[in-house]
Amino acid sequence: MEQTPLGMNIPSKTAFNVYSKFTTLRKQPAIAPLFPASVHSYYNLTEVKMNRLGRLISPQIKGKKDAACEFQDNKAFRDPWNAAWIPKLLALDDWLLKGDLHHIVFRKLALHRTIQDRLMNSNSPITQLVILGSGIDHIGWVFSNECACFELDIEPMITFKKKLLPTLNQKVHFNDFDATKNALDQCLKHQPAFHSNRASLFITEGFIDYIPKENLASLLSQIKQLNPENEWLSTHFDRSLLSHNQRFFFEIGVQITGEHLQTNLRKEQIVSIGYDNGFALVNEWANIPELLDEQSIPNEAKLNSIEQKVLHQKNMNGCSILHFK
Ligand SMILES: C[S@@+](CC[C@H](N)C(=O)[O-])C[C@H]1O[C@@H](n2cnc3c(N)ncnc32)[C@H](O)[C@@H]1O
Repeated sequence: MEQTPLGMNIPSKTAFNVYSKFTTLRKQPAIAPLFPASVHSYYNLTEVKMNRLGRLISPQIKGKKDAACEFQDNKAFRDPWNAAWIPKLLALDDWLLKGDLHHIVFRKLALHRTIQDRLMNSNSPITQLVILGSGIDHIGWVFSNECACFELDIEPMITFKKKLLPTLNQKVHFNDFDATKNALDQCLKHQPAFHSNRASLFITEGFIDYIPKENLASLLSQIKQLNPENEWLSTHFDRSLLSHNQRFFFEIGVQITGEHLQTNLRKEQIVSIGYDNGFALVNEWANIPELLDEQSIPNEAKLNSIEQKVLHQKNMNGCSILHFK
């Protein structure tokens, strides 16, 4: 993997793709209030570091002293996340993959609210979070004040995240874990802060598409064996329900990153794999309006074009959030 003078390459391009879209969308005036201040803090802090660690500055510019000064003086480069062309890129993304901007905000919102509910609800046994394929997401950092949080991902991604994550209040436990090679129960048993006698919520956001069916079944079986009260919260993406164009642009997009999508699984297949391994589906969501009451959906007349795409366009077909116990 290419090393750059100031830092390192971002190992998972799909994780960076989700991060970059969400950190731009969450700043839109009508979307910002849907997320708590802690989520915004995570992205405000990581954006600054991401500029230095990631590939936002090309290696040629990084290597040259004069160019580095030019970079300092150029506002768009100093704060590339707020550059004027970013909304144009997002509009292009939504044109190629209609409904994707809705989808990104939808899944972050649904996950945040469900995790919050499972931690706060007095009837819920959950006291730990385990985030599989955590990428550059905010969940561990945001919830680590409320419970023990464990982030598992492949080794280069964990190394990258450790460099990126603000040290302030940092209580997240990181584990190198490759779901196709390592046993989940062994990985967690070697983690001194993890207590298998406590019920955990296992989160797989944008992760199960990259894991062979057999590995998914084995993961779920190990999760239930660790503790029968463990729960599972996942995104699910049935590519067969996407339009022809959507499917083409999604699959080609992943192919370009060099990451590999597994065989498409329909929702019934996921539910059945869950059921065979001790999990029952208890709740599911498919779009933003299901998460908001009528009053909290902002007035269309006041929305900019990106907000309209997020809040008034439909989610892509076949995308849902599934909660199993
Ligand atoms: C699409 S990204 C999603 C990241 C994050 N969960 C989110 O939604 O923002 C997929 C993540 O899964 C991780 N991943 C892919 N294959 C994996 C494997 N075999 N074992 C562990 N993690 C893996 C990647 O490194 C990446 O961080």
